[in-house]
Amino acid sequence: MAISSTRPHALPSLERALVIGGGGREQALAWALGRCPEIRNVWITPGNGGGEGTAVAIAETDSAALIAHCREQSIDLVVVGPEAPLAAGVADALRDAGLAVFGPSAEGAKLEASKAWAKQLMREAGVPTAGHWAVDSEAAALAVLAEVQRPLVVKADGLAAGKGVTVAETMAEAEAAIRDAFQGRFGSAGSHLVLEERLQGPEVSVFALCDGERMVLLPPAQDHKRLEEGDRGPNTGGMGAYAPAPLLDAAALEQVRQLVLEPTLAALRNRGIDYRGVMYAGLMLTADGPQVIEFNCRFGDPECQTLMPLLGPELALVLQACAHGRLDLAPPLSIQAGSSACVVAAAAGYPDAPRKGDAIRIELTPNTDRQVFHAGTSRDHANTLCTSGGRVLSVVAQGDDFDNAFALAYSSLDHVHFEGITYRRDIGHQVRSKE
Ligand code: AMP
Ligand code: GLY
Repeated sequence: MAISSTRPHALPSLERALVIGGGGREQALAWALGRCPEIRNVWITPGNGGGEGTAVAIAETDSAALIAHCREQSIDLVVVGPEAPLAAGVADALRDAGLAVFGPSAEGAKLEASKAWAKQLMREAGVPTAGHWAVDSEAAALAVLAEVQRPLVVKADGLAAGKGVTVAETMAEAEAAIRDAFQGRFGSAGSHLVLEERLQGPEVSVFALCDGERMVLLPPAQDHKRLEEGDRGPNTGGMGAYAPAPLLDAAALEQVRQLVLEPTLAALRNRGIDYRGVMYAGLMLTADGPQVIEFNCRFGDPECQTLMPLLGPELALVLQACAHGRLDLAPPLSIQAGSSACVVAAAAGYPDAPRKGDAIRIELTPNTDRQVFHAGTSRDHANTLCTSGGRVLSVVAQGDDFDNAFALAYSSLDHVHFEGITYRRDIGHQVRSKE
């Protein structure tokens, strides 16, 4: 049965969608929107060398050009992928222009863009999270450290592209991180710091699609932030992911909804923030229960690539309903049984100095259980696909269990070629059977 025959009539039609962003997450979102039978066209700005949606060269923060494009193409739904345009107020500008936008306002995006603001909100809402001190001078930070006599976690307050956190093992390391931050290592993001108690436990990510008042939860996912196998080496944007993460079963996910997500959405509402977008809770499962490590105001990358193939074609209608503040009018979001695995292929030198400009060859035949989502790719003047960024692409595969899903992802990577291709072979080690 076509979705269109069952769709509620209180929401406008949904034929033309725009995804804002140029990474793998946005390619996956465009792909997922395109699966909705009602949708005829998906645009992506600026996109990359990948083939999802029709790419239009508009910068992700250029609100005026985005509004002009949406008017020209009669866009019914805009989905904002990355945090930077959200924090810069792009969703506000587009909404003010009368567009339906999935993505929070700049005020709501503070959940990610200011860790001190988010911690204060969590405190108000009674959400479990590590104890913290917000400081805005080096002297104040060092004084806290001297008083507690423990190596606290040091976090830059603002957006720092995932690099603003130091989990210090020693007092000297914590002191060095504080000095570095006030010497400008994270730019203005580091002029305010949050010092936090260190928590222990496995990490898991939970994504709630919010309409300001209500929410729909996606299966929990786990990513691998470290560059090297064995979860070692520098932090990255994420080298791979898998879902659903068995760390949270249905009852535990329900507990997270009640303890963390709903109180946070209610606290935002109390502040007058109509939060329509993704609430991404990075959780640590401690001996005392789940605690929030961070909130983000967008889908995780590469968790999004991993999750999208598990979601039904109703996703587009669910996002549209969120954008209209009417999740009650959305069809139920179906979730496919089985496991999804994602492995990121990065360029040599990632994350510090990735090599760029190498030709990419992908020799794969279509398979409905596999997707290749481009990230750091572009086409040169001869239309050759080339590497253009640190995380070049991700290969995502589904199977009836994680062993099969990862086997397909890894065998597929044997057919992806570019100079210096780098990927971890142990993504999902927690859920794969040991050989
Ligand atoms: P964030 O950018 O806030 O996600 O932090 C990056 C990483 O630092 C997290 O994924 C955790 O592994 C680690 N981390 C952050 N806060 C804490 C904490 N309070 N205790 C232990 N580890 C933490
Ligand atoms: N993969 C982690 C993030 O998107 O923040």
